[in-house]
Amino acid sequence: MNTPLTKAPLEDTPICYLNGEFTPLKDAKVSVLDRGFIFADGIYEVIPAFAGKTFRIEQHLKRLQDNLTAIKIENPYSITQWRAIFNDLIVKNNYSNTDCSVYLQVTRGVAKRDHIFPSNPTATIFAMVNPLPAANPETLAKGLSVIIRDDIRWQYCNIKSISLLGNIILKQEAAEHNADEAILVRDGNVTEGAVSNIFIVKDGVIKTPVKDKKLLPGITRDLIIEIAAQHGLACQETNITKDELLNADEVWLSSSTKEVSPVCFIENKAVADGTPGPHWAKMYQFFQEYKDSLKQ
Ligand code: PDD
Repeated sequence: MNTPLTKAPLEDTPICYLNGEFTPLKDAKVSVLDRGFIFADGIYEVIPAFAGKTFRIEQHLKRLQDNLTAIKIENPYSITQWRAIFNDLIVKNNYSNTDCSVYLQVTRGVAKRDHIFPSNPTATIFAMVNPLPAANPETLAKGLSVIIRDDIRWQYCNIKSISLLGNIILKQEAAEHNADEAILVRDGNVTEGAVSNIFIVKDGVIKTPVKDKKLLPGITRDLIIEIAAQHGLACQETNITKDELLNADEVWLSSSTKEVSPVCFIENKAVADGTPGPHWAKMYQFFQEYKDSLKQ
């Protein structure tokens, strides 16, 4: 006898925030005329929260403001209001004692389809939380494997746009090659990963590409530079050529959800001896210490 197909009950229904209301995620609905759906006309943020506390929140809210300004959407809330929304979401979803990431998306809102901005738009504001599992020690010990691809994305990669078609195509290509990430190269220089920023270490100096329109100004990137300075580690913001990447002593990737991870294979070739390097180990430890210092 065939067992009837049943849907697993949504025992644990996440609560999201949509336009002023907290509502079960499964019930949240947005109009098909939302310009986020029609044009990808919006921006987003991903903010980690450790033991219920949002991490580097001032920096994330500053980048949110910069992005809204860049695409001419008025910031609908004050810093205090944003913080209250994120904290309520964390509490309502029972993440006060564990780690999660807050996903926030702001679009230009609902309007008749027209490329020109509507004259009095009401932004659509959506936020949800997702679990943020700690990095698996085995994965870190093994290191990541990456491919290299041309940076096929647009010319404003500094904007955290919800239009991520280039990024997802590149990330998918990495997955199809059993790699964890695609490292992108534009005009001979490394820009970033499809979902991360990049660092190399050469002769004891940590290097990362200069912040410009070719890459996202990552919050984790900036924190790594800050931590390096605090601990007296040599660190430079400078162009990195593809050759320099291939000859680096160490390569790291950074992001809010993956923190700082070692890359041990590029296009199936080992970086140095194919194990995470000593500078990464130090930076990883300092990063964890920084996180711990905020928990007190
Ligand atoms: N993205 N560059 C790109 C293209 C990214 O998508 C990300 C992170 C980063 C790192 O930025 P930050 O340190 O601020 O997370 C750099 C996330 C986490 C995402 O899209 O899910």
